[in-house]
Parts: sequence; C-alpha cells; structure tokens
Amino acid sequence: MKRILFISILCLLAVSGALAQKPTQPSWLSEAVFYQIYPSSFQDSDGDGYGDLKGIMSRLDYIKSIGVTAIWLNPVYVSGWTDGGYDVIDFYKVDKRFGTNSDLVELIRQAHERGIKVVMDLVAGHSSDQNEWFLQSREAPDLRYSDYYIWPSFKPEEPAQNGPMDYAALMNSSASLIRKFVATDAPRGPYYVKNFFDTQPALNFGFANPDPEHPWEQAVDAPGPMAMRRELKNIISFWMDKGVDGFRVDMAASLVKNDFDKSATIKLWKEDFTKWFDENYPEGILIAEWFNPAQSVAAADFDLDFFCHDGQYNYSSLFFYGRRGFGPNATPSTPYFDKAGTGELKTWYDLYTYQYDAVHGNGYVSMPSGNHDFNRVCTEGRTTPEELKVAMTFFLTMPGVPFIFYGDEIGLKQNPNAPSTDGSGGRAGCRIPMLWDGTSNGGFSTAPIDKIYIPQDPDPNRMTVEKEENDPNSLLNYVRTVLKLRKDVKALGADADWRLVSSLDQPYPMVYERKLGLERCYVVLNPSGKQVSVTLPTEASAPQIIGGSYTKCTYKQTKKGDVITLSPISSAIFKF
Ligand code: GLC
Repeated sequence: MKRILFISILCLLAVSGALAQKPTQPSWLSEAVFYQIYPSSFQDSDGDGYGDLKGIMSRLDYIKSIGVTAIWLNPVYVSGWTDGGYDVIDFYKVDKRFGTNSDLVELIRQAHERGIKVVMDLVAGHSSDQNEWFLQSREAPDLRYSDYYIWPSFKPEEPAQNGPMDYAALMNSSASLIRKFVATDAPRGPYYVKNFFDTQPALNFGFANPDPEHPWEQAVDAPGPMAMRRELKNIISFWMDKGVDGFRVDMAASLVKNDFDKSATIKLWKEDFTKWFDENYPEGILIAEWFNPAQSVAAADFDLDFFCHDGQYNYSSLFFYGRRGFGPNATPSTPYFDKAGTGELKTWYDLYTYQYDAVHGNGYVSMPSGNHDFNRVCTEGRTTPEELKVAMTFFLTMPGVPFIFYGDEIGLKQNPNAPSTDGSGGRAGCRIPMLWDGTSNGGFSTAPIDKIYIPQDPDPNRMTVEKEENDPNSLLNYVRTVLKLRKDVKALGADADWRLVSSLDQPYPMVYERKLGLERCYVVLNPSGKQVSVTLPTEASAPQIIGGSYTKCTYKQTKKGDVITLSPISSAIFKF
C-alpha cells in the first residue's frame, strides 16, 4: 500500500512538474511573465518630458491586459544620470525625476492589487562618484565609509599578453582590472577602481587573492568588505520591507575583484547573500545580470539569469545584424530571425543547451525580447508585424521565465539616430519613449516635443497601443493570445522540458518540443521568406494546431515520416 502511495506521489509530481524546481524558489516564479520598464521612457504624468512612477501607475491595467505578472523597473534611485540611473547617489531614495519613496510604495500597492509583482534593480557593484560614501572615502582612509571603495597607491604594469584575448579572458584578466584604475586628485590617493564608467567607482567587496605587494587589495572577509556586505543587505531589506518582490542584480558577477574563475564571487553570493535572502524573504526573487546561468543560477543560487546580448552567451547569431562572435573574432552576419533565411542555429544551440542543461530543474535561463542595453527586436531588417510575431512566438514559448521589454509587444522600433542621453551612448535607440495613442508625443508626455526624453519615431504610420488594441491581427493581440496559451498549456511553461527536434543542418523551420508530464507540444518557427517543409520522426497520431501566426500550415503523416509545411514568415504551435 505504502509503495503504491509513494509511486502515485511520484507520478503526480512528475505530471505537475514540481520536481523541476529548487526548494527556495518563490512560489509565483514558475508562472511569471516579466515586463521590463525603463522608467524615464514609459509614461510621463507631470509633463516634464520624463516618465515617472505615477505614469507607470496609470498604465497598470494595460500591463495586466498583456498577460504579464511582474514588472522589473530599471533603477529609480537618486542618480547622477551619467549612466541611465546606474550611477546611484542615494540607494535609499527615489530620484525626484520619478517621484518619491511614497509613490513607489503606492505603485507596489496598486500593482499587488492587480496580482503584479514589482522587482527593482539592485546596483550592487558600484555607486555614483557623487554618492556621499565616495565623497567621504576619497578624503581619508579612516572614516566610516573609507573602505567602501578601492584606492590603489600605484598602477602596476599590465601583464604581457600572448596574442589577442578572447572576451572571457579580457573580462577576467588582471589587465582588465588595471584598466579600471581611474586617476584622481582625491586627497586619499592617486587612483580609484571603477566598475563601468569613470563616474561609477567600484564598491569594495574584496579581492580573491590579495597580493601583499598591493595594500589596497583587501580580503573578502576583511572589515571593509564585510561592512560593504552589511550595507548591501540593508539596502535590500529597506526595499523588501516596503513591499518590493525582489531584485535584478546589476553586474552581479563583478563584486569580488581579480576573481578569474568567479569562485570567490559565487561563494559570496551562495554562502552569504542568496542564502540570507532566501531565509528572510522566501517569496522574494533574485535575478542575476551575470550572463552565465551555469555560474549564477546553478552555482550561486540565483533564481534566474539572462541568456542575452552580452558575454559568451550572447544570442547575436539569432537577432543581431552585422556581427557574430566577439571582438576580433566577430564576423558579419544576417541573423537567424531574418527573411533572407540564410541564418544558422548551431552557434546559439551550442551555447543555449550548455546553459539549459546546467540549470534545468534548478532555476531558469531567460531569453528576454530585449533590454535597455541592446538593439530592439524591431529593428531595420525586421520590422513587420508578421516577422515580429515569429520572434515573439520564440521568446514566449521557450523554457524559463519570459521577459518582454516595454514596447516590444507593439513592435516599438529601434531608433538608430537617437542621441546619447544620460550616458547611454549607442543604447539610446532602444530606450525610446512608449507610443500609446494619437495625442501629443504618442500619449507619452504633454511636454513640448523638444523636451521629450529621447526623440520618438516621427513616422505618421508608427504603431501605437491604441491602433493595435483595435486590430485583432495586431502584434499586441497576438502576444496576448500566446501568453494566454502559455498559461493554459503547462507544456509551454517555464518548467517544461525543451528539446530541438529539427536538425541543425536544416535550420528552417526550427522545431522544438516542450514537454511536461504527459503533455507535449511542438513549436515550429519559420522566420524565412520562403515556404518550408521538414520531415520528422513518425508520431502515433498527428497533433492539433493550437496557436501561431501563419497563412498556411499542415502536418501530414507519410510513409517517410511526419511532414510539417509552413508558409513564409510564420510560426505554429501544435499539441499532441
Ligand atoms: C548593466 C546595465 C547597464 C549599465 C551597467 C553598469 O550592464 O544593464 O545599463 O550601464 O550595468 O551599471
């Protein structure tokens, strides 16, 4: 009897997918769909040309209508605005551009009322050079915040390199740290160490193997770095206690310096921060910006990490025009998601399956539709609603937690000519203000057009939420349909297994299987401008088509196998 009970429980767990999660995962995460908001660009409520928190509040019903369940806000802290809010002057206060701390608490309340979680950005690795901690630290070595930063007394020679370094080696070499020494006239010393731009001095979490010849290299458990950890926990608690549901941790891999294999940084997260966080905030989420889920999720216990534009794990071969690979090894390319149909899948497949295998059942790899650091999916070469529907089908039917960058659900278009704003450099083109309707500035702001945060697409035919609401075939309504399907069919969800069914030798169409317990789906994608067919192993019976964006799609069982034929620039979702 006991044995039967045990087997039944096992079967139940297998069908529900409950085995595929780590015990510390927040209960809401496996069903979550994120919407990333860059606050300056979403909705301006007071007519100053910048988006703000009250503006976001006024759009919560729209956000909910898409089918998303959580929001990630890019930084809203008091900032020097030399890096889009990632140069934080006060970690405990909302920037007046966006409103007040009370506005944030109210936004959280209103979002929660609608069943939407709110996740903030945690800039863990650096502050602004205008932060009072840094202003004090630069004065003398024995003040309260002196050891929050790193002050090299001289610049060591960069170690010689043998030939060009690849991306990973460059990011993790000691030469890379020396290149982050910033000369200064501070009374404290001739250099400080930055994390990103010169205006972003690195916070001091210590060095993996302090060199006795370099007195500024403190051990990770020295008093300075330990005080730094306490401060970071304080920041986390401050906002969690106001009702926030977790954080996306900016540059999470950067904390411990000269940590070439990342083992000390992994240890710091796993044995201290993620453990402490899970114990104190069991329903809170920690998302890594690390771009290496095998390290951040599998080893350091983050809930999820991105498979994105950066690091070795980029998806340039799928979506980026112009380059494939990194640095000197980059080659020109047309991506897989392009009507030319000349792309390939192997580059992405090898990187993706490595990460997927490393974390499956133990957290998530997320492939966002975009973010504030790289070109939008709607960019020159891929701008029609039909092309974007194929891409969205992919983003919303892959395993892990989906992330929609605001505006990608309506095909908000990359502005290649956007002027650098708030230190964005080339990244302004994806941070363009949202287009809501036909009123002034697309309903984003009542400010004069020259006061708008970043210029909007001047095309009179530009897509807006209003236009797409009224069109049953719009991208927006398609995204809603796919998200509804994902919610109803658990085999399309975060925890279900994933397997490429089609061959890498014939990349169009791409066919993958999603499977949870006894439920099984095929997703078929044809971004190319030609009709394509693929022959797959024979199934017991033909599946039902349950979704997709196509003019023609057939599934035929033949003597040679099961043949799927799909019209140009199409996608289809089948259920067995
Ligand atoms: C992350 C952010 C990026 C920022 C950088 C420094 O990569 O996504 O926008 O510039 O960190 O904080």
